[in-house]
Amino acid sequence: MKTVPISEAFDIFKPENVVFVISYDRKLKRPSGMVAGWSMKCSSDPKLFSVALWEKGYTHKLIRDTKEFVIAVPDKSLEKALNVFGTRHGDEIDKFKVTRIATQKAKHINVPLLSDATINMECELEQELKTGDHIIFVGKVLAAYRNEGKKVLLNMGKKEGKRVFQEFLLK
Ligand SMILES: Cc1cc2nc3c(=O)[nH]c(=O)nc-3n(C[C@H](O)[C@H](O)[C@H](O)COP(=O)(O)O)c2cc1C
Repeated sequence: MKTVPISEAFDIFKPENVVFVISYDRKLKRPSGMVAGWSMKCSSDPKLFSVALWEKGYTHKLIRDTKEFVIAVPDKSLEKALNVFGTRHGDEIDKFKVTRIATQKAKHINVPLLSDATINMECELEQELKTGDHIIFVGKVLAAYRNEGKKVLLNMGKKEGKRVFQEFLLK
């Protein structure tokens, strides 16, 4: 075995589920969100789900303010939107307007669900944990929704500097 840069070891954790993390901007009066690959189920009773958000991003400020967020699992039809949500900042552009992504009302929180996502989960902030340059937000899942027959988009890693996504067929 040879010693490698730690970043190389981290990069091996692929394929990786990607999720949209959506919240609501009370100042700008519009929803906003981002993409996260660092996500994890972290309790089955109660049902808790966590995401690690970079402290220099915008979305974590909204979650801190409203204490609620939606986790939406995309399929291939949302890949273009994913590139916008995953590279642009919500205080600079209205990502929902730019991508024209379809939304619908959630039952328990004031954050929209993504109509075309494979799975949507409404979450209420349970706790946050600062971990280096990221903050882990743990959400209690209040409700979950599924679009039957839709697949799940996985991040396969980078090829020649470009992110490659592939769909996985959910049972
Ligand atoms: C495939 C993919 C995975 C990503 N994973 C994460 C992640 O786990 N945590 C994070 O903070 N940012 C992640 N990002 C980057 C954010 O989505 C990106 O910085 C976004 O522009 C932040 O938006 P905001 O500033 O409006 O919050 C990822 C981006 C992509 C495309």
